[in-house]
Amino acid sequence: MTKHIAILEGDGIGPEIIAEAVKVLDKLIEQGLDASYEYAYLGGSAYDKYGEPYPAETQAVCQKADAVLLGAVGSPQYDTLERHLRPERGLLAIRKDLNLFANLRPAILYDELAHASTLKADVVAGLDILIVRELTGDIYFGEPRGIRTLDNGEREGFNTMRYSESEIRRIAKVSFEAAQKRGKKLCSVDKANVLEATELWKEIFSEVAKDYPDVELSHMYVDNAAMQLVRAPKQFDVIATGNIFGDILSDQASMLTGSIGMLPSASLNETGKGLYEPSHGSAPDIAGQNKANPLATILSLAMLVRYSLGDEARAVQIERAVQKVLSDGYRTADIYQDGATLVSCSEMGKAVVAAL
Ligand code: NAI
Ligand code: MG
Repeated sequence: MTKHIAILEGDGIGPEIIAEAVKVLDKLIEQGLDASYEYAYLGGSAYDKYGEPYPAETQAVCQKADAVLLGAVGSPQYDTLERHLRPERGLLAIRKDLNLFANLRPAILYDELAHASTLKADVVAGLDILIVRELTGDIYFGEPRGIRTLDNGEREGFNTMRYSESEIRRIAKVSFEAAQKRGKKLCSVDKANVLEATELWKEIFSEVAKDYPDVELSHMYVDNAAMQLVRAPKQFDVIATGNIFGDILSDQASMLTGSIGMLPSASLNETGKGLYEPSHGSAPDIAGQNKANPLATILSLAMLVRYSLGDEARAVQIERAVQKVLSDGYRTADIYQDGATLVSCSEMGKAVVAAL
């Protein structure tokens, strides 16, 4: 059956980087990928057209789609809007609406870009890890929460770290399945020595591991994981962790590669539907200049093809094409180095299509 993709350009560099990913998608369809797509509005562009960041029209398109590809949202011209109308609210709303509880963020360092990392080449060369972050639970959403006044008149801020068994089980399944598609090693990160919520996390991961005998499970405390990520990041294949630890570790891991313009992400729900977007934002400083790096968005499309369309071969084909343009020396400004060929956003997209 034909798979249907919703395409949301968003704001800032969104339309420019999405245009290049769509060129790649068109090429795949021409080569036989059974997919169709439709555009809708999210964030600032949705506010301009409908007066809200996640309008019913967009919701309808995304709900019937098998996957959503997003550029980026958020631009300074919307900063003066009331909080509930701001572009970023559109992103939170769509995540909630589609129940996207599993956030997958790869951190890959291409040999050609080893200069971009702040770590020594031998520590990071060939790095290819995936962080799976739970996205809808944990201390960010746990009740009770708030700021209260104590009997002695002093104020106290408080939040609650919570994870239910079913929430842990479903993120564990996504993590093991992702590990099966990769190096078959999964490291579950917790702070089980201090936090009961993560003690349960650890227990459930060990239980789910029995269903995946081909994946090697290990456990690590989050403080040690933070150290190991900069000491010897290549020891990891897939890292799975809760919302707050994942927030921090995924940003840390992304910087091992030094190039925000290269990093894709996926947010999945239980049906395999997902929202795919680059890890970076709307880059208002370079928007409209045809300078942005479209590769994070093109690699997000590869994740979409892998996880929501189930076509591993074509996902790998996109990733190989990206690898090829890098080894052929094409560089957008953010990853430029002496001797390379400086290209615009649209030239980079064209080069990837040619490599396909
Ligand atoms: P940003 O990621 O947009 O930009 C940070 C720096 O990286 C800028 O110098 C930018 O030019 C550069 N950069 C980002 N993507 C690039 C690309 N593809 N090619 C070349 N250079 C690139 O983060 P910033 O500046 O903190 O946020 C800007 C806006 O984006 C804000 O409104 C923020 O709320 C929003 N944002 C949206 C996200 C999303 O849509 N998921 C995620 C992060 C921020
Ligand atoms: Mg973060």
